[in-house]
Amino acid sequence: MRKQKQDLLKNVCFFIFLTTLIHRVFADDAAIMAELAKGLSPAPPGWNNGPPCKWPGVQCDPSGRVTSINLISKSLTGQLPPDLNKLSSIQSLNLQRNQLSGPLPSLSNIATLREVYLDNNNFTSVPPDFLSGLTSLQTFSISENPNLLPWTIPNSLTDSSGLVTFSATKAKIVGQIPDIFGSFPSLQNLRLSYNNITGGLPWSFANSGIQNLWLNNQDVGFSGRIEVLGAMSQLSQVWLHVNKFSGPIPDLSECKALFDLQLRDNQLTGVIPPSLTSLPKLSNVSLANNDFQGPVPSFPRGVQFNLGDTNSFCNTSPGPCDPQVTILLQVAGALNYPSNLASSWKGNNACQNWQFISCDTGSVSVINFPKQNFVGTISTAIANLTTLRSLIMNDNSLTGPIPDSLTSLTKLKTLDVSNNNLSGKIPAFAPSVTVKTSGNPFIGIVLPPSPSPPGTTPTTPGGTNSTPSSTTNASNKRKRSVPPWVIAVIVVAAVIGLVFAGFIGYRRHVKKPGDKYKWAKGSEKKSQKGEADEISRDSPSQMDTEGSDFHVSDSSGVAIPIDVLREVTNNFSEDQILGEGGFGIVYKGQLHDGTEIAVKRMESSLINKKGLNEFQAEIEVLSNVRHRNLVALHGFCINGNERMLVYEYMPQGTLGQHLFNWQERGIPPLTWKQRVSIALDVARGVEYLHGLAQQSFIHRDLKPSNILLGDDMRAKVSDFGLVKSAPDGKYSIETRLAGTFGYLAPEYAATGRVTTKVDVFAFGVILMEIITGQKALDDAQPEERAHLVTWFRKVIVNKDEIKTCLDPSLKPDEETFQSICKVAELAAHCTARDPHQRPVMGHAVNVLSPIVEQWMPSSNDEEENFGIDLDMSLPQALQRWKASEGKFTNSDLFTDSSTAFTRTPQVPSRDTSSFSQTDGQR
Ligand SMILES: *[C@@H]1O[C@H](CO)[C@@H](O)[C@H](O)[C@H]1NC(C)=O
Ligand SMILES: *[C@@H]1O[C@H](CO)[C@@H](O)[C@H](O)[C@H]1NC(C)=O
Ligand SMILES: *[C@@H]1O[C@H](CO)[C@@H](O)[C@H](O)[C@H]1NC(C)=O
Ligand SMILES: *[C@@H]1O[C@H](CO)[C@@H](O)[C@H](O)[C@H]1NC(C)=O
Ligand SMILES: *[C@@H]1O[C@H](CO)[C@@H](O)[C@H](O)[C@H]1NC(C)=O
Ligand SMILES: *[C@@H]1O[C@H](CO)[C@@H](O)[C@H](O)[C@H]1NC(C)=O
Repeated sequence: MRKQKQDLLKNVCFFIFLTTLIHRVFADDAAIMAELAKGLSPAPPGWNNGPPCKWPGVQCDPSGRVTSINLISKSLTGQLPPDLNKLSSIQSLNLQRNQLSGPLPSLSNIATLREVYLDNNNFTSVPPDFLSGLTSLQTFSISENPNLLPWTIPNSLTDSSGLVTFSATKAKIVGQIPDIFGSFPSLQNLRLSYNNITGGLPWSFANSGIQNLWLNNQDVGFSGRIEVLGAMSQLSQVWLHVNKFSGPIPDLSECKALFDLQLRDNQLTGVIPPSLTSLPKLSNVSLANNDFQGPVPSFPRGVQFNLGDTNSFCNTSPGPCDPQVTILLQVAGALNYPSNLASSWKGNNACQNWQFISCDTGSVSVINFPKQNFVGTISTAIANLTTLRSLIMNDNSLTGPIPDSLTSLTKLKTLDVSNNNLSGKIPAFAPSVTVKTSGNPFIGIVLPPSPSPPGTTPTTPGGTNSTPSSTTNASNKRKRSVPPWVIAVIVVAAVIGLVFAGFIGYRRHVKKPGDKYKWAKGSEKKSQKGEADEISRDSPSQMDTEGSDFHVSDSSGVAIPIDVLREVTNNFSEDQILGEGGFGIVYKGQLHDGTEIAVKRMESSLINKKGLNEFQAEIEVLSNVRHRNLVALHGFCINGNERMLVYEYMPQGTLGQHLFNWQERGIPPLTWKQRVSIALDVARGVEYLHGLAQQSFIHRDLKPSNILLGDDMRAKVSDFGLVKSAPDGKYSIETRLAGTFGYLAPEYAATGRVTTKVDVFAFGVILMEIITGQKALDDAQPEERAHLVTWFRKVIVNKDEIKTCLDPSLKPDEETFQSICKVAELAAHCTARDPHQRPVMGHAVNVLSPIVEQWMPSSNDEEENFGIDLDMSLPQALQRWKASEGKFTNSDLFTDSSTAFTRTPQVPSRDTSSFSQTDGQR
């Protein structure tokens, strides 16, 4: 009984399955076709009986599926069935030139559909999923359906990646053209005339192969610039007339096939570019009813052109404009030809009622356009207006530099460019010129590599906001490096600052011998408070935070929004302060993903030109150097007057804290192994800094408070401001000097000349501090011990005496003592009085790495060279050093600077000889 039931069920199921199958294969298309026929009136001839595949205008594939319907110009009325997309094998649907009406059916997901013609009908609406999933679509036409409800071009059109033609003139399209044209590599025809589309041209046009572009006669009108045309190299016919396009005609020299360009009845401005008049195929141009300027264009014979009579050309026939007019048009050009200048700057006499221009006896003497919302740059051509007295451009959105050539304007009295967004250095104007540059946050500093080259406008006024990534392709990729003058300024400032500082130090030293280290020590304390200064890690990391979309990547040129920093530091709360340095305050922050960071916030008093240079210098240096023993910058923040640098938080603080303050901090003293390992890390970092292939950097401020430690007690060198003396005034110079004084190489203190060997000297001092646990300058010590270098070098002449100067916490066994002696020798070598006798940093690496390896042989797998230092062998160096040892005294070092100077008369400003030798080992 039960079994019978089951069999019956099985049979029923099978029957249903079979009928479904038959229905699917044979009946479905027939049913839809019957529905279609029923809806049309009159019924198309021959569509009354028999299988649809036999109907006139219908084609099927061998399995009986409908592949094509052709009902062109059959005077049909009626409506289409809503489930037309069940014709799932159809490839071609041709219903054009009838009076079909009613809602259009969805065509979605007909994967076979290649061409659809619905044009010249009377359809009333477009369904929401009308064009999605049409993966084979090549041609689509819905033009001339004037009774459609307004609809927009759907983004789902991107499914049709083989699209060649999209025609929708007079089709009631509204909204903007979506920026999806990167999806249609084969697109040739885009016809959207007579709709109500607004907004600008999408930048993805630049990647397309569009040849026919019809966008004319929109109800309200397209707006924005037509710049992207210059990157549409396949264009042949461009109809943009009767819209609200503005701005100039771009360089069209790439559009070699362009024959028809209709631009009339817009609001275009600017000089007609020669690239237009010289287009090889050009035959039909309309420019009438715009605000074009400059010379009347001269088209070759055979070109049919329409210039109208409402443009602002300087003449009525071709030929150059008056020189002053030419120059002023260049000024306008640098501002992207603003429309108010175009409508006022007409004719060939700039002194005749030109807005913003004043003249003295026919010569332009004043350019005065404050607060005009102008976007662009200051044209270098202004320098040709030799009679100019006053140039007022304040409160606009000008970017780029103030041209140097403006300094040649001998009559110039006033230059006001305040409250713009200018950058670069301020040219050296004569004292008689009143120069106002306030309110330009970037002036006086050089920006990090920026994606938009100067002179191009980052956004299109009134147009789309997407970036012209493909149009400025080449220029985008060009990265700007630090201009040589920045480096020059930094070096010069450093040298001047240090010579001055050295002089003060020398004077104080001589004046008050009993008090000699006091001021230095006070400042040293101050800088130790800020020991948590810079902090980081080598590896690039991502710091995605909720609600913001910035990444921290390998490039440190990452601008981080101030809101993010404000949030993660709890609005720069006092609780988050890690330390205070000469630069400003360092805050700890924690991102949403838990990443800890250190934020160095520049003190507002330091935000002057030099301070900004220093800020910039640190960004530039850290952008150029990558090494696991150097801090890496996560990013920076520039916001109004705020300047911040963001590093990773280094949890173990500074070497200084571990060497000198471990007791008060309740942490164990460093073991000798840890100390040597830290020394090696520092040596490697500095060696890298010195020996970069292209550029070498001199740290100039190596000291334990600039050496930061991670949880593994591996060290990184930090603080690359290089020129820390930035602001004027005694205080900061003293701070600078104090921070460096105990570590200052004698020739550096005496002459301010700086080579990589000043870092080697400072490194030697750090080694001494590591060995002795005593600070470089410590007036708590007896007089003869207060200056570490002098005392240490005296003591270690006799190896047995070394024991007397060791850090009491070390308590070395014999093996450790042997390695301490090696490091002590290295320290002495590094602090040789003659810079030429000091080794290069690579030598220090070579001495220290076997010592470290002794304990941690495996940790060196990834380490780089153990090459031989060609500069000088250690025994050789020691011998030389010992030979001069006896003569070396404290007074020699600091008070007898004139002899120090004469004995090393020529210290090259960069120690190239040692670079090339170490480079050779790499
Ligand atoms: C188009 O449809 C509208 C109503 O939907 C009708 O009033 C009009 O007459 C139709 N036009 C043509 C040419 O069929
Ligand atoms: C065109 O669209 C705008 C809105 O963008 C609307 O205000 C205007 O009425 C439309 N024009 C026509 C003729 O439909
Ligand atoms: C040029 O364009 C105008 C307007 O579109 C048209 O009337 C004229 O026939 C065209 N001339 C040629 C030579 O294509
Ligand atoms: C401006 O001066 C420069 C150099 O003196 C010259 O090359 C250029 O042609 C001048 N431009 C105009 C528009 O006079
Ligand atoms: C000013 O210029 C800088 C760089 O050129 C840019 O990042 C910033 O967005 C600009 N600010 C404004 C308000 O335009
Ligand atoms: C963009 O850059 C690529 C490669 O650098 C180049 O082949 C292409 O021609 C460039 N395109 C434009 C529009 O400049």
